[in-house]
Amino acid sequence: MNWYENAIFYELYPRAFADGNGDGYGDFAGIRSRLDYLEWLGVDCIWMTPVYPSPLRDDGYDVSSYYGIDPMYGLMEDFQLTVDEIHRRGMRIIVDLVVNHTSDLHPWFVEARRSKDSPMRDYYVWTNDPEKYSEARIIFIDTEESNWAYDEHSGEYYWHRFYSNQPDLNYDNPQVRAEMMKILDFWLRMGIDGFRVDAVPYLFERDGTNCENLPETHEFIREMRRYVDEHYPGTLLLAEANQWPGDLLPYFGDGDEFQMCFHFPVMPRLYMALAQKDRQSVVDILAKTPPIPAGCQWATFLRNHDELTLEMVTDEDRQFMWDYYAPESRQRLNLGIRRRLAPLMDGDRRRIELMYSLLLTLPGAPVLYYGDEIGMGDNVALDDRNGVRTPMQWNDSANGGFSTAPLENLYNPPVSGPDYGYTHTNVLAQEVTPGSMLHVIRHMVRTRREIPVLARGKLTWLDHLPQHVMCFWRENGGQRVLALHNLTDESITLELPEADGLHDALNEDSSVETEITLPPYGFRWLIEPTEAKSA
Ligand code: GLC
Repeated sequence: MNWYENAIFYELYPRAFADGNGDGYGDFAGIRSRLDYLEWLGVDCIWMTPVYPSPLRDDGYDVSSYYGIDPMYGLMEDFQLTVDEIHRRGMRIIVDLVVNHTSDLHPWFVEARRSKDSPMRDYYVWTNDPEKYSEARIIFIDTEESNWAYDEHSGEYYWHRFYSNQPDLNYDNPQVRAEMMKILDFWLRMGIDGFRVDAVPYLFERDGTNCENLPETHEFIREMRRYVDEHYPGTLLLAEANQWPGDLLPYFGDGDEFQMCFHFPVMPRLYMALAQKDRQSVVDILAKTPPIPAGCQWATFLRNHDELTLEMVTDEDRQFMWDYYAPESRQRLNLGIRRRLAPLMDGDRRRIELMYSLLLTLPGAPVLYYGDEIGMGDNVALDDRNGVRTPMQWNDSANGGFSTAPLENLYNPPVSGPDYGYTHTNVLAQEVTPGSMLHVIRHMVRTRREIPVLARGKLTWLDHLPQHVMCFWRENGGQRVLALHNLTDESITLELPEADGLHDALNEDSSVETEITLPPYGFRWLIEPTEAKSA
């Protein structure tokens, strides 16, 4: 098995994690000072969101230079030190690679918009007909009215799938493709372990299509994969492609495109199953999820730095999700919900832990989002997605231990107040409290790493059981695990002759009978003992 197939990923927002120099912004020095924590938690691979120089109008996803580090985070040497420190602890690191667009302040675009004859004009996509490619959907519907923006200076429109300050690169231009290979090379030379490749489906545009998932895009990805395989074997490429399972499968290619893709459609359905006390939506989407090539893996997640996207659900299900999880309109953004896991679960520890248990026992490699492991809250008063990107809450000292700067100098204030404020919701408080949520999640994470069958094993539902439980086997040739989940707030007793002879993987001391009672939102991981395996 490749390392990433059974890895625990941790998405870390560098600006929000830890401030090492006291200026109010998270940085590499801060991250290095907190690596002990990630190692203790059981993280195998850190995914760091963009750290390139950027005007920060899309929090770093608007890159103004691909060959540098934004000074707020430190120097290039600092980045290198951080990579080395992560490796010294036996962890890995992947970084975001923003391939689809640049910032409008990137020198390529500044030059390109200078005139229609600019030598860099063709790095971007221009037209004088803003009706072109009108079948392409708009992604940031709350802010953008068109995928074209008019450039006053040169008198044409340029193409952008995200904010209008993020012009799309023109992948029909071989120079652009060559630039991307140079960029890959630059970062891989520093020893990173791979990339989370941002906004993959949108690289090419073609008349009469929705400009997503085009064959040309796949061809470019194969080129990218060949390049890394040849020059930096073992490099992980993880795709952010927010698509239906059928459209996602081609991103694995014949094992010659991405090794991993985020499984976007399963995520909202985990929330739906819980809200509806019915496993069916998860059963259905996994049934529609095709098998993937050997050596590939899904990346699964509960939350990330964006809104909880509802693009991959039906209109009806989206409305259900909004009504249930985002009753206030300010909790909604574009086609999603801008809230964190703990508030979505009403701060109910039992439900948060249940969601983690589902994430860790269903197929895929789990990607944890910083702060969710301690039940951090969000701040909907902040703009855009900033409310789920607030400072990590380390302890109950000023600014939650995130920074020594005066509060007004912080990029954003930490969450305060009675529900999720740092004075009580913080890492230290939970570290010193046995049985805290952090300890429970850490124990699950560490247990999961020891049970590789949970990564790639075959999934079989116990479909004779009532709809309000989610019970399934994970198995491969050598090992079997039975995962049981109660989606309701009432305890429930199950007759499980299958459980005979299994051990409780999470709690060595608890006995396993054929009649099992799950408390409200309870879960169990039952594993075949090793002796039985070899018998
Ligand atoms: C991805 C990122 C998101 C960003 C967008 C445009 O979806 O996750 O944060 O805004 O790409 O780069």
